[in-house]
Amino acid sequence: METKLLEGQQAIELGAQLINKGEVVVFPTETVYGLGANAFDVNAVKKIYEAKGRPSDNPLIVHIYSKDQIPSLVSEITQNAKTLIDTFMPGPITIIMPKAPSIPKEVTGGLDTVGIRMPSHPIANAFLKACNCPIAAPSANVSTHISPTNAEDVYEDMQGRVPLIIQGGASEVGIESTIIDMTQDIPTILRPGGITQEMIASVLGACESFKGKVTVAKAPGMKYKHYAPLCPMVIAETFESMIKEYADKKAKGFNPIIIARDDIIKKLNGERYIDVGLNADETMRNIFASMHEGQRIADYIICQDFGMDGKNASVMNRVNKAAGGVRV
Ligand code: TXA
Ligand code: MG
Repeated sequence: METKLLEGQQAIELGAQLINKGEVVVFPTETVYGLGANAFDVNAVKKIYEAKGRPSDNPLIVHIYSKDQIPSLVSEITQNAKTLIDTFMPGPITIIMPKAPSIPKEVTGGLDTVGIRMPSHPIANAFLKACNCPIAAPSANVSTHISPTNAEDVYEDMQGRVPLIIQGGASEVGIESTIIDMTQDIPTILRPGGITQEMIASVLGACESFKGKVTVAKAPGMKYKHYAPLCPMVIAETFESMIKEYADKKAKGFNPIIIARDDIIKKLNGERYIDVGLNADETMRNIFASMHEGQRIADYIICQDFGMDGKNASVMNRVNKAAGGVRV
């Protein structure tokens, strides 16, 4: 299959045509790029799983362009869910609610709940509007690979597997949406993201983070290995351990690279690096692109431990998975 990478109105129109013919299309969002299909078209949804090589029990998020679409997709909107919709949509949040019968079980992996997300990216919004149907979409990466935050990284990973990638530049937020389950007694974050637990708690009063070990998966995606670069990656707990690991690996014939923030980069002495910026927001925006670059130009990635306050915790959730929890 030839994969087109197009931009502008032409890309949006072709994208909508392909969706309405039952094909899949990659589109930009402010979190990561998505691989979309008509959520009501079971055959099209199956093509998502094929293109990603993804197990089909892992449910998909349903994307909308207008809040008016929500009542037709869910069977109940609680007062708390409404508060989240009013406060954080459009934006990097996915809200899990009981699903309406119209949503096929192929979209929700057999669950009776559905995740609803309204992206804030203007091209995503224009594309979703042009499609004029809810769009089921996971991140636009091959299953277990890193999520893509620019069209070029999608192309590298998905070339030949999809007919069209809509160009939308670099994603502003840079990691996947916060997933919050509103079907529990206490609203529960299943995946941390750009909307933090503190931000949600400040409008709802109470909000928990899911910490249980995943056997029967709550967010089924949590039970799979995720976000792994194609080369080994480790987390350095201190500056000293980072420098030592770099030297050790270099001595063993590896071609290592360091992923770190400005303050660490300034202290380096000739080691190769990728700078992910000044603060948590910039790190979040750059982290996946830095892993893509790392696996492209090096064969061993050493990533700084960014700590656990505020949005750093969301970044470290992805870094930990990418490193398989390995720390030096
Ligand atoms: O930012 C995002 O959320 C991106 C963009 C494209 O919107 N999408 C994304 O999709 O990250 P995906 O498929 O890579 O991750 C969705 C996660 C999976 O871990 C899945 O198990 C979980 O959401 N999920 C989806 N529907 C669910 C449901 N009804 N209940 C629990 N977890 C659900
Ligand atoms: Mg994903």
